[in-house]
Amino acid sequence: MRSIITALLPLLLPPTFMAALSHAHFVLQSPPSLGFTDTKEGQSPCGGFDIANRSTVTDFPVAGYPFYLLTTHTQSEFEYRAALLNDTAAWLDLIPPVLQSSVGYFCLGAVSGISAWVGLDAVVQVKQSAPDGVLYQVSPGSN
Ligand SMILES: *[C@@H]1O[C@H](CO)[C@@H](O)[C@H](O)[C@H]1NC(C)=O
Ligand SMILES: *[C@@H]1O[C@H](CO)[C@@H](O)[C@H](O)[C@H]1NC(C)=O
Repeated sequence: MRSIITALLPLLLPPTFMAALSHAHFVLQSPPSLGFTDTKEGQSPCGGFDIANRSTVTDFPVAGYPFYLLTTHTQSEFEYRAALLNDTAAWLDLIPPVLQSSVGYFCLGAVSGISAWVGLDAVVQVKQSAPDGVLYQVSPGSN
């Protein structure tokens, strides 16, 4: 199994990406993340990025937005959460935690927004808890 994955990943990913993934990580692809820094992904709450950075803001409909990510952890738990920009200590789960047990791309068709937050600036966070640590990626949003 491991050799199949090792063989497939270079076909799926650009070489610079492979270099960044020298050890286990995950990378949020949708909604667009603020960025991915290999060595800082374990820093809460944004994997080394500034939670107030609004350089890419995704319009996040209450009806839902598709999430997808790449993970190289064979087993982990993902939390899909959001906080208002004016209260970033209070994270709310958008869906219950998801246990995931394979590597590669992982998709959720539509994760609902929070209707009470329509018109407010928020930050979406995906948090991965794996045996070797906890990792974070965020996406600025408004709904
Ligand atoms: C905000 O995030 C973008 C994308 O990651 C980055 O290019 C930019 O330098 C950041 N701005 C600040 C002020 O940190
Ligand atoms: C954040 O903003 C919303 C909408 O204006 C408000 O209802 C809420 O009380 C604010 N929260 C904090 C902690 O200021």
